[in-house]
Amino acid sequence: MTSPSQPDSNLPLDMIIFGGMGDLAMRKLLPALYMAHLHGNLPPATRIISTGRQEFDRNAYLNFVEEHSRSFISGGNFTDDAWRSFLQLLEFVRLDVQQDELAALAKVSRPGAERVFYLATAPSLFTTICDKLAQAGLVDSNARVVLEKPLGRDLASAVEINEAVGKHFAESQIYRIDHYLGKETVQNLMVLRFGNSILEPLWRAPNISSVQITVAEEVGVGSRAGFYDSAGAMRDMVQNHLLQLLCIVAMEPPASLSPDAVRDEKLKVLRSLRPFTLAGIARDTVRGRYIRGVSGNQEVPGYLEEKNVPADSSTETFVALRTYVDTWRWSKVPFYLRTGKRMARRSSKIVVEFANPPFPLFPETPGGVANRLVIELQPEEAVKLQVMAKQPGSGMKMQQVALNLDLQSAFSERRAEAYERLLIDVVRGRLTHFMRRDELEAAWQWVEPIINGWGTLAEKPYPYAAGTWGPSESFALLARDGFGWVE
Ligand code: BG6
Repeated sequence: MTSPSQPDSNLPLDMIIFGGMGDLAMRKLLPALYMAHLHGNLPPATRIISTGRQEFDRNAYLNFVEEHSRSFISGGNFTDDAWRSFLQLLEFVRLDVQQDELAALAKVSRPGAERVFYLATAPSLFTTICDKLAQAGLVDSNARVVLEKPLGRDLASAVEINEAVGKHFAESQIYRIDHYLGKETVQNLMVLRFGNSILEPLWRAPNISSVQITVAEEVGVGSRAGFYDSAGAMRDMVQNHLLQLLCIVAMEPPASLSPDAVRDEKLKVLRSLRPFTLAGIARDTVRGRYIRGVSGNQEVPGYLEEKNVPADSSTETFVALRTYVDTWRWSKVPFYLRTGKRMARRSSKIVVEFANPPFPLFPETPGGVANRLVIELQPEEAVKLQVMAKQPGSGMKMQQVALNLDLQSAFSERRAEAYERLLIDVVRGRLTHFMRRDELEAAWQWVEPIINGWGTLAEKPYPYAAGTWGPSESFALLARDGFGWVE
């Protein structure tokens, strides 16, 4: 294993993408690198070396990129000149990492260049790739490796990957990507919490009565059933994206923004999540699966009718659960998490519900929640504080109104996509928004018993019609505690 050094922006950079012809490379990575190039955020002597199994030469690869990637760059950002100069950065190396040694890659990658290896392949190839990179002499103290999710399918496989990669790369050279950590609003959540002093005294039990985190998708499983059916919503979304959001909501203020200070605090949250018992799984988790319904004004098939989904699949496309962070700050505050495909619309938000005033002074308006902080992550980025105001007129009737911070109109600056921001972080050697090994393993440690418990309970996921907010059992989960999902 090498001993890492800080990236040197004067060195040439070779960004090497394994899985360079895959969906992720075409839809996200190359468009993000194009944007970074357009805005001058790549070192001057950058090359992007894609690898793939196809019998392609460089020109054939460029045509492939033209056909499959260009359309993922939004219109306003596309210029012919920038695109042409971006294509000049691209190289292609034909490689079958399972069969071939990496000599061909070693020939193309420049000696003395800083190397970033982006592993956008199935995780089952990570070990082989890292071993072969080391054998080919491509891993030095300047090298960095980016690992795409899913990082394992349980704790043991995550440990195995971490061990294998850790043989050749120090922890500070490893960038485990969770693209939710690159989203502007997710990063803004840290500023909201720790850059303002008005929230901190309130940010705890008993002032907060519950927290909801929803990541709802309108899309179905699409063409990804091959992967998705072996993962399900728990592994695909909860283990990573939702738990990372929960960590940022629940963490203690870090001592600094250094990667370890931030990640230490997130790790403490993951380790404080209340472990599930089998009875708890039956009571506090809901699995769902979409059936035929209407989404975006179109009739869409149910999950079992999607291409490549086995007829006897028991995979969930929806999860809702209640959990607790067992610390002083969060004692007895329920955290409700919910995610699903083919839900009513794309909507990701965090809702922090504050306790009602201790005494109801305005009997004309009984009930209801007085204050909520709603942090909308997508599709719109907004922060809303719901407060009570007096309804104009006689009497003292109250009504909820929202103090509304629309982040899109508050700032004129361009808002980069998550992948662009994270790739620039990798290039600059900034690890704060990437997962550390112990975080990843702690997340699996909490998630795995839930998945195993579902296996033991052997219940089928509850059906919900595509285009709805999930099975009714998910509403019952909150109603039981006197809460409701905020749509
Ligand atoms: C990915 C999941 O990590 O996140 C996908 O594998 C999901 O299934 C996607 O669709 C959602 O990301 P976003 O940024 O569109 O919310």
